[in-house]
Amino acid sequence: MPINQPLNFQRNDKPLLKKILAEHQDKEGNLLPILHSIQDELGFIPQSLISPLAEALNLSFAEIHGVISFYSHFRTIAPKKVVIEICQAESCQSMGARQLKEELVNYLQKNKFDVTVENIYCLGLCAQSPAATINNKAIAKLTLDKIKTSVERALV
Ligand code: FES
Repeated sequence: MPINQPLNFQRNDKPLLKKILAEHQDKEGNLLPILHSIQDELGFIPQSLISPLAEALNLSFAEIHGVISFYSHFRTIAPKKVVIEICQAESCQSMGARQLKEELVNYLQKNKFDVTVENIYCLGLCAQSPAATINNKAIAKLTLDKIKTSVERALV
């Protein structure tokens, strides 16, 4: 399910977990690929899936939770319809990414736009800094006007 679909908190995600586990069954080091698959499908990793995942992989809840909390990429709460990830690595910071993020957050709050804004660390677009993604689509040479336009389009 793409992240821009309405969230249904009544849903049962265990069949999805079963399918993802089957895809990664018997592969060494499969925890990260499984976590990525869950987040790709749901937009986040629900708390309710951690115990069954731990049981299936013969790991503890704490081990799974530790991996999820170590990587800033993983979300444990559902994102909004629009997710913006602004690169905060060196090249983008030197090109004003931090200030751009502040201005964007102010703009979103002022307009009451329901958008998730997160940090990301290097999108491989350093030569075209600052960079960001909006709903997983990369934007290079980011400006406030450019991202405002993208947000307004994504919210339609
Ligand atoms: S530092 Fe931002 S894309 Fe590489």
